[in-house]
Amino acid sequence: MTSAGHDPVMLNEVVDLLQVAPGQTVVDCTLGRGGHASAIASRLGSEGLLIGLDADPRNLEYARGRLEGCACRLRLFHANFAELEEVLEECEVESVDGILADLGLSTNQIMTPEYGLSFATDAPLDMRIDPRSTVTAADIVNRWQESAIANLLYHMADERGSRRIARRIVERRKVAPIRTTGELAQLVYEAIGKPSPKDKIDPATRTFMALRMAVNAETENLECLLEVAPKHLKVGGRLAVISFHSGEDRIVKMAFRAAEKVNFGRVITRKPLVPGDDELRDNPRSRSSKLRVLERI
Ligand SMILES: C[S@@+](CC[C@H](N)C(=O)[O-])C[C@H]1O[C@@H](n2cnc3c(N)ncnc32)[C@H](O)[C@@H]1O
Repeated sequence: MTSAGHDPVMLNEVVDLLQVAPGQTVVDCTLGRGGHASAIASRLGSEGLLIGLDADPRNLEYARGRLEGCACRLRLFHANFAELEEVLEECEVESVDGILADLGLSTNQIMTPEYGLSFATDAPLDMRIDPRSTVTAADIVNRWQESAIANLLYHMADERGSRRIARRIVERRKVAPIRTTGELAQLVYEAIGKPSPKDKIDPATRTFMALRMAVNAETENLECLLEVAPKHLKVGGRLAVISFHSGEDRIVKMAFRAAEKVNFGRVITRKPLVPGDDELRDNPRSRSSKLRVLERI
């Protein structure tokens, strides 16, 4: 991993497929640690404008520091990409040449205990990437009905042990509230079994993913972005989306197909692009990523 705490995925592919050129206006909806944004900014030149947003103010500030001194104009916002329309209005920009959304989380977010996203270290069960959000993962496991927790795990993460895990959570919270990532992981193991060398992924991974998606309203925000972003592309402008799991990729694929069906856009990536062997070796976390690109016609 680079010192930025996150390696940008399919960097060259993104910049090439967005066809970034001097003088353009490009939006990076997920600045993260500024990896893609730096590469985009370096191609925009002094006449170009980079609009950047991130729901996590800590990543936003890091990216701001990294982008300082780039030649292009910069407008950076602590905002959710579901608020793209408002951000563009604030910039007095109607349509842009390129939009990037690199979904999910950056490596530093997953690794930093204070986010409460990982069970590798015991930490408060938070999972909010935007501190303005009011609901934490602890709120969900301690307050939601058993059936709602089971449905969340099943629908968001295909967790086959969803009912057993939900039952164990509810039994345990009658005794004492569930407060930490370690406590939750332990309950998952009690419900569906401890990690074994045969497992490709830790049994707690799916539960953590489903909770993180609910806490950060990931599906709703993505659907909102896919509805709004294409309308703000210039003709010939491109929207690139990198997804990290099949449910997310399906939503992107369907939205792009729908745009094509009504002759609003053209899908540039018939099949999604995936990282090459070199990238997979250097950055194993890129493993599940898929890149799809739509062009406005
Ligand atoms: C995979 S990282 C992006 C990494 C970035 N492309 C780079 O090269 O460093 C995803 C980023 O998107 C942010 N994010 C996730 N959902 C968001 C949303 N709905 N609105 C805005 N930012 C979001 C996360 O906080 C995180 O910083």
